[in-house]
Amino acid sequence: MQTKLWKLDNKRNQAIEEAAALIRKGKVVAFPTETVYGLGANGLDGAACRKIFAAKGRPADNPLILHIAEKEDMEALTSGLSPLAQALMDAFWPGPMTLIVPKSDKIPDVVTAGLDTVAVRFPSHPVARGLIRAAGCPIAAPSANKSGKPSPTTAQDVLLDMDGVIAGVLDGGTCDIGVESTIIDTTGKDPVILRPGGITREMIKAVMGRVVLDPGLVKKGETPKAPGMKYRHYAPTAPMLLVEGPEASLGLIRLAIMAEAHGLRTGVIALKETVDHLPKGGNFVIHNGGATLEAYAETLFHDLRAFDSEGVDLILGEGVREYQIGLAIMNRLRKSAGHNLIWAEGGLLYHQSGSVPDCLGTLVMEGMPER
Ligand code: TXA
Ligand code: MG
Repeated sequence: MQTKLWKLDNKRNQAIEEAAALIRKGKVVAFPTETVYGLGANGLDGAACRKIFAAKGRPADNPLILHIAEKEDMEALTSGLSPLAQALMDAFWPGPMTLIVPKSDKIPDVVTAGLDTVAVRFPSHPVARGLIRAAGCPIAAPSANKSGKPSPTTAQDVLLDMDGVIAGVLDGGTCDIGVESTIIDTTGKDPVILRPGGITREMIKAVMGRVVLDPGLVKKGETPKAPGMKYRHYAPTAPMLLVEGPEASLGLIRLAIMAEAHGLRTGVIALKETVDHLPKGGNFVIHNGGATLEAYAETLFHDLRAFDSEGVDLILGEGVREYQIGLAIMNRLRKSAGHNLIWAEGGLLYHQSGSVPDCLGTLVMEGMPER
């Protein structure tokens, strides 16, 4: 299949119309949102949605998100909204928030993977909204990557996984937020975050007065309530270590120097201040995540993908504090690292979980600091 790439210049509306016509015909088209690129098909057409699963290599037990172009479009998709869902919609839509609500009978089982709830999102990105409106149907869209890879945040990253596999890509430039939407379960008493994202725990708490994190996100042995959160994900090809804790920056620098001294081509993904303190001229491949959590999130997936073509032997990632969008960043980074975690505190490096390359063994001790 030839994959069409629409540049959104002066013929923007025409491109959106063409893409929408393909969606109406049951084809799959990738499009930009404010979070990441989505892989879209007619959300009421089961056969079209099955093509999404095939293109991604996605397990059939992992349901899709339906994207709408107006708040009112929610009504047809649910059998009833709780006051909780209504309040969240009023506070945060359009934007990077997906709500889990009871599903209506109209929605094909393939979309919800047989669950009796459905995930719905009203994106703020003008191209996404234009496409949904022009298609005249809710658009089912997961992130536009092959299953297991980092989500794409540029049209070029979509093509790396999907060229020749889907009908087309609308190129809307780089996505603003860079990590996927916050998923909130609205079917219980409290809002429960199933996946952290651009609408933060602090923002939800401020509006709703309460918010809960799905225990499956934080506790070992608990199954996450969003089926997709249980899979290994966002993984670059090279082994990756994530350095967390109050001295993550210093710890990462020590590990990087040691790895490089042992002849490893060492990839680093870190905040600007850490990057500024790395020795110059070594065999490092450095991705500067910028000075703020927002900047770090925006380029995170693109940088993780880049390591695959840069031939690194090892990747060292810098952990950040789990507040605001830092919670989403850490959720994604831990998965990328396959839970190979180092804790840096009090001048020492502790091995929390996973494995550490032999050449770094002398720097790292087993266990965690005494509390
Ligand atoms: O920002 C985003 O949300 C992007 C853009 C394209 O909108 N989409 C996205 O979709 O990240 P995807 O398919 O990569 O992730 C959807 C997540 C999966 O973890 C899935 O298991 C969960 O949502 N999900 C979908 N329906 C659900 C349901 N009824 N109950 C619980 N989790 C659900
Ligand atoms: Mg995804």
